[in-house]
Amino acid sequence: MTDKIVLAYSGGLDTSVAIPWLQDKGYDVIAACLNVGQPNADMDFIQKKAKQVGAIESYAIDAQDEFADEYVTPVIKANALYEGDYPLVSALSRPLIIKHLVEIAHQHDAVAIAHGSTGKGNDQVRFEAAIHALDPQLKIEDPIRDFHWSREEEIDYAKEHNVPVPIGKKSPYSIDANLWGRANEAGILENPWNQAPDDAWGMTVAPEEAPDKPTFIDLTFEKGIPVAIDGNKLKLSDLIKSLNKLAGENGIGRIDKIENRMVGIKSREVYEAPAAAVIMAAHHEMENLTLERDVAHYKPLIEQQLTNMIYEAKWITPLFDSLMAFIDDTQKVVNGVVKMKLYKGSAVPVARKSDTNSLYDENLATYTSADTFDQEAAAGFIKLWTLPATVYEEVNHVHSKKPEDK
Ligand code: ARG
Repeated sequence: MTDKIVLAYSGGLDTSVAIPWLQDKGYDVIAACLNVGQPNADMDFIQKKAKQVGAIESYAIDAQDEFADEYVTPVIKANALYEGDYPLVSALSRPLIIKHLVEIAHQHDAVAIAHGSTGKGNDQVRFEAAIHALDPQLKIEDPIRDFHWSREEEIDYAKEHNVPVPIGKKSPYSIDANLWGRANEAGILENPWNQAPDDAWGMTVAPEEAPDKPTFIDLTFEKGIPVAIDGNKLKLSDLIKSLNKLAGENGIGRIDKIENRMVGIKSREVYEAPAAAVIMAAHHEMENLTLERDVAHYKPLIEQQLTNMIYEAKWITPLFDSLMAFIDDTQKVVNGVVKMKLYKGSAVPVARKSDTNSLYDENLATYTSADTFDQEAAAGFIKLWTLPATVYEEVNHVHSKKPEDK
């Protein structure tokens, strides 16, 4: 019996050419494409194309809700922005894709999984780490890493093997997109001194072309997750989609950065994540209102660790689960509404409330006669608060004058 392999299939030229290439290596190929909200994903077409190119079986799986509910939510709760700004768009879909591929492999008694990442990026690490975690017995093939073909050689191979070659000029960019955003690299972007041209962007207008009037929206959070826009309840995948549109029209969510990859190189990426920009700014403000101070000050340490673990292919690890358990616990009080102002590229909170969990006490904070804060107590508090430094000065006189110098 011929060995079976399950291929992460996108419908593009690289993973289509991978089908005959894997057949030449002696495998029967089962193709699987996941819809994680990438734009214009014609899943029927992609499913048929895999069979046309030679796959013995082809799956098209709608994983948009699973992606939103199980992979995006940790990023929101943990305010996870790699190196301060990248909301981990591509890093999130990899473990989900592998989860489905491993399930399919088990159904068909397949011996291996194939993916089509280059040998220079993070995604190969994320795919393969997930395979090792979910079934260490499975073999791994990465045709793209192994081809070493020029574009011309790839096209010749495609023609010889009846793989349709897209007509017209190839996009100069390498793009990966899903519900949570879009990553774009290569081509003219490889020179970091080149400004990203207009055609590098796909989800946003330039901020200067955005409407001259601001748009205000109320985002409702339950346990740290956005559940409604202006009071209208939406499932998370739909909420993200409608925010992508609204925020994209306001020029929000563009990130143009040099980033440190796992494999040691720096790369220049141009990201768009309009919904993420709005949701994450709102979520952080919701936490400002509802988290107790020590929790608020401690949580970023865990967030930093989790963010790097997501980027660095450590999604399926015991430490990830334990740290997420901490994060989840903090979110039980993160309930309320944040009003966001969307205007020419910026998304800022302008008002916030929580009927159930606000720790803001107007009677404590006010400077009016409604004041309930015990100001008398403040003087004693300050004496004790500064006591250690006061004693130190009395003994050592580093900053203060000695009595005899007076
Ligand atoms: N550098 C990003 C990451 O590692 C994006 C990777 C995919 N990018 C792309 N343009 N194809 O998460």
